[in-house]
Amino acid sequence: MGLFICFEGGEGSGKSTQIRSLKRRLNQLNIPNVATREPGGTHFGNRLRKILMFSKDTLTPETELLLFNASRSHLIDTVIQPALEEGKVVLCDRFSASTLAYQGYARGVALETVKSANMIATRGIQPDLNIFLDILPEKGFQRLPPGRDRFESEDVHEFHERVRAGYLDLIDRATDDWFVIDATQTPRKIAEIVWYKVRSMLDLV
Ligand SMILES: Nc1ncnc2c1ncn2[C@@H]1O[C@H](COP(=O)(O)OP(=O)(O)O)[C@@H](O)[C@H]1O
Ligand SMILES: [Mg+2]
Repeated sequence: MGLFICFEGGEGSGKSTQIRSLKRRLNQLNIPNVATREPGGTHFGNRLRKILMFSKDTLTPETELLLFNASRSHLIDTVIQPALEEGKVVLCDRFSASTLAYQGYARGVALETVKSANMIATRGIQPDLNIFLDILPEKGFQRLPPGRDRFESEDVHEFHERVRAGYLDLIDRATDDWFVIDATQTPRKIAEIVWYKVRSMLDLV
């Protein structure tokens, strides 16, 4: 099996930036890898992404939970599981923990319900490592370009504080592997910290 690394964190925490940088490094070393994202990562998933991020319809937290997991299920089937079976490093921009933080802690769906739905989608495939890029929501938002999706439109001090507190609570109770990085550092410094950690795990693959 390959190595499954997920990047987690709030809006503007630098997930996409760090995935690009880690992917570049893996490519330079000819380490087979796939970078993908949630929701999305496939044609079908990207159609669901548009609905989840930009739908003008009111979506209940439960509808969101199931749509995210429909996208996840398809991504697991067609991208993540095959790549891991081929021994690749899989980098994913958000995964199950995002659903716990956003639909669970922030939207209020019972955590056990979120976990059950996540389990249907993942079939038990879990990240070998979750990297949490930690930043105050207010600071993350200052980095965002203009234009807001459904989640970015939520209140910074209410909703997004709950997302961050949710992540921190998850990490506190975690039985799986988390690596927390202060995301206010420069992109370059964060990339070094990420690489130091990932390199130590690559030796094990
Ligand atoms: N460590 C950092 N310090 C300052 N700006 C950053 C940092 N990381 C990313 N950025 C910038 O912040 C914005 C959001 O970064 P991005 O990687 O898209 O975050 P995310 O994917 O977590 O929403 C981008 O314009 C990016 O260039
Ligand atoms: Mg991003």
